[in-house]
Formats: sequence, C-alpha cells, structure tokens
Amino acid sequence: MAKNILEIRHLVKKFGDFTAVSGINLEIKTGEIFGILGPNGAGKTTTINMILGLYKPTSGSITINGINVEKEGDKVKPMMGLMTQETVVDGDLTAWDNLEIAAELYHVSKGKMAGKIRDALEEAELTDFAQKKAGTFSGGMQRRLALVKAMIQDPMLLILDEPTTGLDIQNRVSMWGHIKDLTKIGVTIILTTQYLEEADALCDRIAIIDHGKIKAIGTASELKRMVGTGRILEMILDSDSQAQQAASLLKVHFKLSPAVKGDKLEAILEKWNPKMLPEMLDALERKKIIVASVNVHFPTLDDVFIKLTGSGMRDEASTEYVSARTQIMRRR
Ligand SMILES: Nc1ncnc2c1ncn2[C@@H]1O[C@H](COP(=O)(O)OP(=O)(O)OP(=O)(O)O)[C@@H](O)[C@H]1O
Ligand SMILES: [Mg+2]
Repeated sequence: MAKNILEIRHLVKKFGDFTAVSGINLEIKTGEIFGILGPNGAGKTTTINMILGLYKPTSGSITINGINVEKEGDKVKPMMGLMTQETVVDGDLTAWDNLEIAAELYHVSKGKMAGKIRDALEEAELTDFAQKKAGTFSGGMQRRLALVKAMIQDPMLLILDEPTTGLDIQNRVSMWGHIKDLTKIGVTIILTTQYLEEADALCDRIAIIDHGKIKAIGTASELKRMVGTGRILEMILDSDSQAQQAASLLKVHFKLSPAVKGDKLEAILEKWNPKMLPEMLDALERKKIIVASVNVHFPTLDDVFIKLTGSGMRDEASTEYVSARTQIMRRR
C-alpha cells in the first residue's frame, strides 16, 4: 500500500470568531493527484496555507513524511512546490529570468541551473519564448511558466491552488496534460479547484469541502455512486415561484426531494424509468406550471455536490440542458 506523504489531523483555523476550517482529517498518498473541491470561501486556500506553514493552525496537526509542519517547518518547506491563485510570474522579467531567480532562491547548483531551466522551458512549451518578457504572454503561457517554476527545486509535494481558474477551456485542458505529466516523475500533487470537471478529469481522489468541513472523500466514481444508480433530473421553470410550485408537486406526487435555486430545480430519480418524464411533464402542465427546459442525465460530481451540500457549484445554467420542446418532440 502506498505510503502517506501528508497526514492532517483535526485541523481547525479560526479568524476571530469565524471558523474557516472546521476539523479536517485527511491522508494523501505518495504519488497521487489529490483534489480539494469546493466553492468560493469553502476553506481551500486556508487549508493550503496551513500545509505550507504560512498560517498557524488554531488546533490540529499536519505532518509531511512524518515531519510536523508547525514544529519543523524548515525541514518540510524544501520538499514543497507552490503555485498560487495569483499569477506568480514576474511580468517585467523574461521567462528565463523568472526561472533563474526561482532556481537561485531554491539553491539549485550553478552547474545544473542552465540545463534545468532549458528542461523547464521545454516542458512548458516556452523554449522559443525564453527571452521574451512574461508580461507579454497569454494567460495559458503564464500559467505554464508558473507551473514549471513551482517545480524548479524538484519538490516531492506540489501544491496548486486553483491552477486553471480564469483560463479558457482549451488552456485548462492543456494545463491538465502538463499537471498529469508531473506524476510520471513521482511527484505528489494537491490541487484545489472550483471546477467539478477538473477534479473528475485529473484527480485520483477528491475531497469535497464546504464551510470548512469535508463532506466526502473518494475517487470520482466512488463519489458519483453516493448519488445512487438512478438519474438526475434538471428543470428550468418559467419563474422562481413556478420552480417552488414544481418542487412541491414533484415531492407530493413523485416522492422526490428537489433542490431549488432560483428558477432551477434538480432532483435525484432513484428508480428511473423512461415513463417518468412524460408523467411529470403532464402533471406540471395540468397545474399550468411552465417548463422552460428539462434534462435527465447520469450523476456527475455536480450532483454529488448538490446531494452533499444542498446547493450547486455553478450559478450559470448548464449548456447541456435539453429544451422541453426538444424532449416533447422526441416523445412523438
Ligand atoms: N486572513 C483571513 N482573515 C479573515 N478571514 C479569512 C482570511 N482568510 C480567509 N478568510 C475567510 O475564510 C473563508 C475561507 O477562505 P478561503 O480563502 O480558504 O476560501 P477558498 O475555498 O480558497 O475560496 P476561493 O475559491 O474563493 O479561493 C472565507 O470566508 C474567507 O473570507
Ligand atoms: Mg482560494
């Protein structure tokens, strides 16, 4: 069985009266990509900052390879690499100089330095941009530079705080490839993300956190199984009040427990059969409740999140919704 590189016990962080991290227990195995998934303000960065020894825990302990971070920070710091939410490259410096300064900071030996920087630039697909100022780079290029910069001292534990937030989907997928490549050289990665599909695509295991607490830990498929083997119903109604009415109707007549957010409704269909959808739409129509769109799909991590926290991760409507009209047309 793989050894634990990181062990977190009963970790708590309070800022005055406010509890940002509320009793987290976590074990991360050597060589895995571990995802900490949660919405804004869930406590992801606060947890990361305690792992890095930047924040002192209010209580609890963190050990890396058996070494207590709080007590022996100097020993564990060289084992870690960090890429934060903020861009951590200097825009006024060239890509090469950014890496050289990082290498000097981490005491990379003079003999190895140039070779290491060349390898890093190649890994980041920035070889041709070595002498260009990082400030002129696109968001994706800057992020790739930040990633190889975090790796310059060969850390055994790499911490990525929202490595792809703000990037478009193309650059995000490209970053996933670069992050995955790093596990081939044996580095353990902890990353935080607000993107469910990122955790799904990249992470060996995922902890879902909300309000400073771990709601569930497991592989993506283990987490999805928590929602059951049924399907997920998503509906958009004509108005917020209609969404409430629809939820009551589905609760009473179909024994569902819908979660409502604005004009959106989501429910787990434990025992799915294809007849359910027309029956539900007919029942809603009889009550003059207007369904703008409806979609039934297999559980995703988003649904796990809703089941665990009672609210969704994203505010905007999913583009995967199939309009009610399309569904009705298909029935005919
Ligand atoms: N230094 C601080 N002083 C006071 N409150 C703080 C401090 N740092 C974080 N908080 C609060 O703790 C909570 C958790 O913040 P944290 O930054 O850990 O969230 P997060 O999960 O990283 O969110 P995001 O996705 O927005 O980065 C938030 O409510 C935040 O306002
Ligand atoms: Mg954060």
